[in-house]
Amino acid sequence: MYAAVVRSFDRPPRYEQFETPRPADGQVLVDVEAAGLHPRVRSGAAGTHYTSDGRLPLVPGVDGVGRLPDGRRVYFVADDGVPGTMADQALLDPRRSVPLPEGADPVVIAAAMNPAMSSWVALRRRVAFRGGQSVLVLGATGSAGRMAVQVARHLGAARVVAAGRDPGRLEALAGLGATDSVSLAGDPEEAAVRLGVAAADVDVVIDYTWGASTERAMSALITHRSDRSMPLDWIQIGSTAGPEITLPSFMLRAANLRIMGSGQGSVTAAGIVAELPSLMERLVAGAFTVDARAVPLADVEAAWTATEAPGRRVVFLPFTG
Ligand SMILES: NC(=O)c1ccc[n+]([C@@H]2O[C@H](COP(=O)([O-])OP(=O)(O)OC[C@H]3O[C@@H](n4cnc5c(N)ncnc54)[C@H](OP(=O)(O)O)[C@@H]3O)[C@@H](O)[C@H]2O)c1
Repeated sequence: MYAAVVRSFDRPPRYEQFETPRPADGQVLVDVEAAGLHPRVRSGAAGTHYTSDGRLPLVPGVDGVGRLPDGRRVYFVADDGVPGTMADQALLDPRRSVPLPEGADPVVIAAAMNPAMSSWVALRRRVAFRGGQSVLVLGATGSAGRMAVQVARHLGAARVVAAGRDPGRLEALAGLGATDSVSLAGDPEEAAVRLGVAAADVDVVIDYTWGASTERAMSALITHRSDRSMPLDWIQIGSTAGPEITLPSFMLRAANLRIMGSGQGSVTAAGIVAELPSLMERLVAGAFTVDARAVPLADVEAAWTATEAPGRRVVFLPFTG
């Protein structure tokens, strides 16, 4: 089969022949129709994701839309430790797959399930989120953040404060359900004050940034909060601004701050898969706006390093290569 193949962690994958994986007991070989180039895919291909085992060569790709031998289409999440989904064929564990509803666009599903599931699972599995609460999306201008704004409103948030740097993307979020927006561009201290004023009393923060961005945001929210005993659930999901933070101890004493993460591990694989059908149903119904660009897998090397419009998700199509 042909696949995107990573032979060195510091080079993009190349389109080349690769041995077709053999299904073990309980696995099925599927034809891959579409696979999204998510940040998680990039960090896996760079050997920097926390699940990476350092082995090469590897085929990247963590999920996708595949066609079963009997012709049915499914969305599936690949197991760790098997060749990934950016290939003509991939191994599927039926327990990590859900049928694609009639009329579903494989490109939309492959583009959106990973970014959308981050907030969907966080709000449904990590906190007791109730309709009428308010949410801050930190890093709202990326694919996952943009989805989080829509997901939070869809799940009943009364207020969604969207914070990000890209002015065009930030402005567009008003049409997708953001009730307030805060620019994180420019002077970081001034941005923190803007954030503190706009988002002081939110119930939940969905955080895609971490790093210095989160340090400033946490301090700003706690400083401006009108009732610091009111729970503030801070859900760590991404780290586009850095992998670490310094957390002054007083912040945990001075406010009812509850920090947690959401992702593979903090939610079981079964728990994540259980959320997929309802999310996919909403996607197919057109509840969320998705920005995707389909690219033949044969062009993987160029597309991997090309500058993409912010928040737009590249989706590789193995069979058109
Ligand atoms: N745990 C999970 O289940 C899960 C699932 C999906 C994604 N994620 C993670 O969530 C993060 C975002 O994913 P994505 O799909 O939205 O990625 P994306 O589409 O590539 O968007 C990333 C966004 O991050 C922002 N950004 C980059 N550097 C920044 C900085 N220094 N400070 C503040 N913002 C910065 C950029 O927006 P601006 O330039 O406008 O700031 C950019 O649009 C990634 O870390 C990804 O791995 C986690």
